[in-house]
Amino acid sequence: MTIPEHSAAHDRATCERLDAEDPLRHFRDEFLLPPDTIYLDGNSLGPRTKGAAERAQEVIEDEWGTGLIRSWNTAGWFDLPAKLGDAVSKVIGGGAGSTVVTDTTSINLFKTASAALKMQAADAPERRVIVTQRENFPSDIYMLEGLAEQLGDGYEVRLVDDEEVTAGFPTTMTAEVALVVLTHVNYRTGRLFDMASTTSAIHAGGAMVIWDLCHSAGALEIDLEGTGADMAVGCTYKFLNGGPGSPAFIWVSATLPDRFAQPLSGWWSHEKPFEMSPSYAPAAGIRRYLTGTQGILSMSVAELGLDIAARADMTAVREKSLALSDLFIDLVEARLSEHPIEIVTPREHTHRGSQVSITHPEGFAIMSALIEAGIIGDYREPAVLRFGLTPLYVGFTDVWDTVEALRDILDNRLWDAPRHKVRGAVT
Ligand SMILES: Cc1ncc(COP(=O)(O)O)c(C=O)c1O
Repeated sequence: MTIPEHSAAHDRATCERLDAEDPLRHFRDEFLLPPDTIYLDGNSLGPRTKGAAERAQEVIEDEWGTGLIRSWNTAGWFDLPAKLGDAVSKVIGGGAGSTVVTDTTSINLFKTASAALKMQAADAPERRVIVTQRENFPSDIYMLEGLAEQLGDGYEVRLVDDEEVTAGFPTTMTAEVALVVLTHVNYRTGRLFDMASTTSAIHAGGAMVIWDLCHSAGALEIDLEGTGADMAVGCTYKFLNGGPGSPAFIWVSATLPDRFAQPLSGWWSHEKPFEMSPSYAPAAGIRRYLTGTQGILSMSVAELGLDIAARADMTAVREKSLALSDLFIDLVEARLSEHPIEIVTPREHTHRGSQVSITHPEGFAIMSALIEAGIIGDYREPAVLRFGLTPLYVGFTDVWDTVEALRDILDNRLWDAPRHKVRGAVT
């Protein structure tokens, strides 16, 4: 695929040619998207995988309907968290047998943060500060604050600006810091943080790091093992296309599992859960990151999305993602310049994830009008329109058509209608 340097000079025919040459284009057939829809919200909820309904039917009819309780063994239900974890691990560079799929990102963050603080309490008890991004996804901040409050005894959460993280923590890494929790790609702006150098800076300061990969797993190359990260969590329903509310994942460095003290020590993390012992003993391997019984229907469907991601070449995914976002940014600058739009996603490739976010004072109404036109992105406060550029099913022509639709909506004030100002519970 040869991408001209100045994509603002593209026309629709060029975009069509780029789509025809795209080495990833066959993946689009693995998803079921409604007709006449451009889907740019895979950074929030990935689209339906083609086999999802059939797989759900199979689990309901055969595995549950006929197999009944036997399916925990005969259909491999008991092993699903580790099996799915291996697929995720391929995408995040975690190494074999290091990842399980279970629970939600928020719950997995609580588990990993609690375990990391316990390790630090043993090695460096004076370290009681948890650092995270002020602009982090709010649930991460809430979970960490809840944990610090529960621990009491001087534990506290400190919030830092994204600039401080990008600069390698010039002021943050004092001798009080035990743990740094960072979301790899900012959910609102799409800013990407460098995992290798950031992890090194945190370790040099004597702290541990947990990466939240919700907006990067399946979107770009990740090398958790190679960068020496300590732990990671993330969801499977965005770029990994696992389905609405599909279970999240938890990765722990191969150097740490034996020290991982599970704070939610349910029976699925026990070394012999079916001995029904009244005393708790944690499993030796990754099973100790589990808590209780898993949602098998959701896990079974999620497997299809994880399998697609595990087959995709993440280098090609990243290359196309950057080409799509370059095109989007160039076209917005060239064709929407007379409107009060600001591009909040960094221009530098090294600082950009797989979405482009723009602001406009009427952002909510504009997104509503765009969705009415069959182009689905989403809106985040304050005034941010987010466009997820997911290379497995989004093409260059989709980007062209989106910017043209935006132009029509802005030039003709199509957003300025009462129906575009009505907000639902989820934006
Ligand atoms: C970066 C980030 N962290 C955490 C979460 C929370 O995930 P969950 O609802 O699975 O707990 C989200 C959800 O979108 C997210 O984007």
